[in-house]
Amino acid sequence: MTVDGAETVLVGTWAGLGELFAAERGSLKVLNTPLVHDLFGRALFNLTSDGHAEARRRLRPALSGRALPGYVPSLLEVTGPVAARWAHHGVRDLYIAVRALTGALSARVLLGIVPGETDAAVFAADFERFVLATSAPPGWRRFPTGRYWAGRAARWRLHTLFARRAPISTAGPHPGSALADLVAAFEDAPKAAGRLPDHLLALLIAARETTASLITWGLVELAGNRREHAELAGAEAHAAMAAPELLTRRDALPVLRAVLAETQRLHSPNLLSMREAVCPVELGGFRIPAGTRVAYSPSAGHFDPEVFPQPLAFWPGRFLAEQERGARLRAFGGGAHACLGRPLAELMAIAVMASVLRRGLPRLLGGPPVRIRYRPAKAPLSPVPLVLDRQETAS
Ligand code: HEM
Repeated sequence: MTVDGAETVLVGTWAGLGELFAAERGSLKVLNTPLVHDLFGRALFNLTSDGHAEARRRLRPALSGRALPGYVPSLLEVTGPVAARWAHHGVRDLYIAVRALTGALSARVLLGIVPGETDAAVFAADFERFVLATSAPPGWRRFPTGRYWAGRAARWRLHTLFARRAPISTAGPHPGSALADLVAAFEDAPKAAGRLPDHLLALLIAARETTASLITWGLVELAGNRREHAELAGAEAHAAMAAPELLTRRDALPVLRAVLAETQRLHSPNLLSMREAVCPVELGGFRIPAGTRVAYSPSAGHFDPEVFPQPLAFWPGRFLAEQERGARLRAFGGGAHACLGRPLAELMAIAVMASVLRRGLPRLLGGPPVRIRYRPAKAPLSPVPLVLDRQETAS
């Protein structure tokens, strides 16, 4: 099939994804445009082989496992006031509001930037310029565009800001950020593992866009479906806010986790991930020559009625009895380039959902979004106004 105007082999089944991920190392590389190489430099998804594996090894500890509980207070410090504002004034455009929130959460956790401090505005403005540059033409036609050059300049300033934040983060005053650990992890890194400023920009962009998509669709579904889902999730939200350590316990808050798993299944934020065969490779019984473009859809298999009966229905109950089924979904990809931020993304998403639902149950003022875009992440194309209906028990 044709993807972005080029012939591409699409891997579109669950079994196919397994084969692709198994064959990936050494035979497929991530296909990134010259624009992406240019803007992201030696960020993780632009690296290959040993350098790529080394960079993942160094980045992972700060984004998962024992690091996560330390981020919970910082996350709630950001989500709390925002959820209170939403409850008071409603939200004019859900996706835009959630995107601003995940941007602030990422800045808080990855850089130690607290909302309201001077660097928050500086960072937000330059990050926006950088993000805009990612929509410039992918090839040489990027050069005559103003947004490309504005993005390049913003990138340079952001790198300077990261360097300036690093000592702040190691010496305090803002604990609850990954920056100090990331700086330490890259102090003695070999050149092949890339540079931390490039990795930081990649993490920041990955964290904001896709997590915003997941949270948006989660709230849309809770607002649009039977009230009981939202009510059950709301009850857990109160428990989570009373005991925030539950947010990082995989055996706690089953309804909220099932809601997020079902949202991942039905609204996988990423439509396509691109690869290029670096040598001949066999997939699904077909021999794919070197140089061929290969794409996979993370949600391939998410709509298989044999595995997920009534696949188009939003039914979190399917994950309630078997929570571990949610971990097997492919919204976070797999193989050599599987999402490195999955644990942090899931923590951010559950923290937002709990903070919001504690304030009230979501209601869409204009019905569910009809016009949708699928790339770079699935999002409504028109504003989705939302209000939170306060519950009797809400405090
Ligand atoms: C709901 C939120 C998220 C979703 C659905 C998601 C999804 C994905 C997917 C599908 C991939 C694989 C891309 C490929 O195969 O080419 C990926 C890679 C990646 N993600 Fe995420 N992601 C999310 C959040 C995050 C967060 C919060 C971070 C960082 C803090 C992050 C960092 C990364 C990085 C660095 C990679 C590249 C890994 C590599 O190339 O080795 N993601 N993500």
